[in-house]
Amino acid sequence: MKRMRRNGPELVAGLDIGSGRVTCLIGSPDGATGAVKVLGGSSVACRGLKGGVVINILEAASAVTRAVEEAEAQAKATVSSVWLGVRGSHLQSFNNRGAYNIARTDREITAADVDAVVSSARAIPLSSDREILHVVPQGFSLDRQRGVPHPVGMEASLLEVDVHLVTASSAHLNNIMKTVAQAGFEVVEPVYGLLAAGEVLVTPEEKELGSVLVDLGGQSLSIGVYSEGAIKYSKELSIGSDFITRDLAVGLKTSIATAERIKVEHGIAHPSLLDGDAPIDCRAIDGRTPMSVNMSTMMGIILPRVEEIFSLVADDLHNSDCADLIAPGGAILTGGGSLMKGTVEAAQQILGVPVRRGVPHPDLIQAEEKWLSPVYSTALGLLQHSTSPRWSGVNTRVVARKRPLWMRKFASMLEELF
Ligand SMILES: Nc1ncnc2c1ncn2[C@@H]1O[C@H](COP(=O)(O)OP(=O)(O)O)[C@@H](O)[C@H]1O
Ligand SMILES: [Mg+2]
Repeated sequence: MKRMRRNGPELVAGLDIGSGRVTCLIGSPDGATGAVKVLGGSSVACRGLKGGVVINILEAASAVTRAVEEAEAQAKATVSSVWLGVRGSHLQSFNNRGAYNIARTDREITAADVDAVVSSARAIPLSSDREILHVVPQGFSLDRQRGVPHPVGMEASLLEVDVHLVTASSAHLNNIMKTVAQAGFEVVEPVYGLLAAGEVLVTPEEKELGSVLVDLGGQSLSIGVYSEGAIKYSKELSIGSDFITRDLAVGLKTSIATAERIKVEHGIAHPSLLDGDAPIDCRAIDGRTPMSVNMSTMMGIILPRVEEIFSLVADDLHNSDCADLIAPGGAILTGGGSLMKGTVEAAQQILGVPVRRGVPHPDLIQAEEKWLSPVYSTALGLLQHSTSPRWSGVNTRVVARKRPLWMRKFASMLEELF
């Protein structure tokens, strides 16, 4: 049985369960350079997901199977375990501080002391339906002196750590894990997709100076603020580029599929990009009657939603006191929604900081152009994270089990029947 095999030698797979798509990349880490070479990938739309939450396990599992199998075919290799990216507004983050007294006479800090202080930062009141996904250290303090990056080997009597905690709804997380298990794959570790994308898109300088990563997905938007070299704030907003598709479908009285095509082929998010007012041929809601829409009409429907999306980002940054942190490095955009022409210009105008599209760093990722698209940035981040998992071990839980091939076939047969 295919799934009973292990990953091929030196192969890693990143499986991004997005807000409405399942995306998979298979890569091979280069031991000498540390970069990951992308061997194959695939991204499939999935109606079994809504805003990062599984609403139909059979549909979602079949999308996972399809995404991984297409990636396997291109990579000419098979995988059995995946690094799993998750997103959606069931994830909630906040900062906390942990403290640990070094009671020994030598007071020299060991790796075990660092583990203990990071562990102490997990102590937060959490309702029984939620769990901690990540404890990301932001910086250590020794005897109240902040800004110590590597405390091991130094001396102090009080070791403290500031951390960024990412929590998830246990039920939603379990349903994602079950979906992947149903598709027949083992989960190495669930990872917040935004943090993974940040590993390959935000440079160490930008993280140090202060910047914000904005991942504009289909039904969810992630905000990640970096400052002093660490993630300081993260948030999932329940809005995304699918809202633009829906506005177009309603405004133009056409189907979602036609609206999506118009958006992807012709959409513009800023008036400076309007070049003439050529008509776009399309079909009415019945899928047959031909009609035509002017570029300016289409833009008139898109712009208010784009403005709303980035105004929500600006308000959220303002309300979280992060607006001042991001000014030096500006904003980095990614996610499928960032592909629309004029998105950078619109974001720049509304956020009032320099904005660029995120490009995976070539020292970290070697890939054909098509895998460098913002659609794949979370999966690329997962590949990179797998080579040096810095916030893992905290919550590693391999609950996904391999399923025999016949079970997977049976599940997809059932899905076809209903
Ligand atoms: N070329 C494009 N122009 C405009 N929007 C796009 C383009 N390609 C993808 N999108 C939009 O990106 C969104 C999906 O983003 P993606 O990051 O793949 O999803 P997820 O939220 O699942 O992570 C969809 O709304 C899709 O319409
Ligand atoms: Mg995405």
